[in-house]
Amino acid sequence: MLNTLPSKLPDVGSTIFTEMSALALECRAINLGQGFPDYPPPDALIRAVSEAMAQGHNQYAPMAGLLQLREAIASKVQSQHGHAYSVESEITVTAGATEALMSSLLALTHPGDEVLLIDPAYDLYAPSIRLAGAEAVRVPMRPPRKDDPAFRIDWNRVEAAMTPRTRMLVLNFPHNPTGLTLKPEDLDALEALIDRHPVLLLSDEAYEHIVFDGCAHLSPVSRPLLAEHTVLVSSFGKTFHATGWKTGYCCAPAHVTKEIRKVHQFTVFSVSTPMQAGIARYLRESDTLSDLSGFYQKKRDRLATGLKETRLRPLHSEGTFFLLVDTAALGTGLEKELAVRLTREVGVASIPVSAFYADPARPEANHQLLRLCFAKLDATLDQALERLRGLN
Ligand SMILES: Cc1ncc(COP(=O)(O)O)c(C=O)c1O
Repeated sequence: MLNTLPSKLPDVGSTIFTEMSALALECRAINLGQGFPDYPPPDALIRAVSEAMAQGHNQYAPMAGLLQLREAIASKVQSQHGHAYSVESEITVTAGATEALMSSLLALTHPGDEVLLIDPAYDLYAPSIRLAGAEAVRVPMRPPRKDDPAFRIDWNRVEAAMTPRTRMLVLNFPHNPTGLTLKPEDLDALEALIDRHPVLLLSDEAYEHIVFDGCAHLSPVSRPLLAEHTVLVSSFGKTFHATGWKTGYCCAPAHVTKEIRKVHQFTVFSVSTPMQAGIARYLRESDTLSDLSGFYQKKRDRLATGLKETRLRPLHSEGTFFLLVDTAALGTGLEKELAVRLTREVGVASIPVSAFYADPARPEANHQLLRLCFAKLDATLDQALERLRGLN
């Protein structure tokens, strides 16, 4: 009986992040693959969470999240994007961005629906869409070219992929893995698109506070028409160097939130209370969000400058804590083979960008690009660069 158990996700194995982290461990490599910092969250935040436990914040939080955290999220989003969400009916605290995305997809899409993904796409979306019984339709970005070494989104192509069955478009800016951010003209294009095709937008903004070169993060919810259609998802994991705390949130119009909460209440019910109480207090009392982009920009520049002395060519990163490197000088082959080779030969682990496509082995998914994570101590980045300089 167990041998014949049909799988709901027959093609899903362990993720590339798990695989490359295991290889990094085996090879004692520096892990610039999986996206997590090798430094701790701010002291004041750790104190706020510990004190929350000592002060008795240890039993179930309300299903939608602690009121003080929802209030802090509402005022943060309002000052970032000028959009006011109701703490009662439009904000839900979730177990990381992961749960917000999964709960949204399960609640809002139906068998027979199509959900548009823009490739390369974070690996969680497609399996979640499948579990919801819907179908992922993938629209590729234009890959980097010699005369324009950046990924570009063609909104006409996105629109051309829409059908009467399209229920939702998944957005992820700042974008993992390319580091692309949304510009005003992208929001213009999205407004025109939503006007013609009023689908839902699932906007994964996990890296919302890491945007470089003096630019601000532009969320679809900064435009009233788009806000009506958007589920804004974010996470405190990247923002507070605390990826293991798995605390995030989603904001959406009340009738949409009502459906998301129906799934949320039966998957996690509520999220760790002391984390919520500590984060709420920290958001009220500290002003570290504004420093984050500058902190990461220095790391981006350190890595990009150092890479110029290696055979890898860095591409420009506008946001997130990732940058892509062009490995063309190392010869041809699948990106995954290159990533494994780099880990084994010089001891630096990375993630092949092909892993963010439906089929990582296909030529359309392989552009000789690897993703490096620079959420690392300067000493770690320098050590990785020293190893990469030895690359033949
Ligand atoms: C684009 C993107 N979305 C969502 C997540 C998951 O966030 P969390 O750890 O808060 O669940 C990640 C984590 O790497 C991510 O890169």
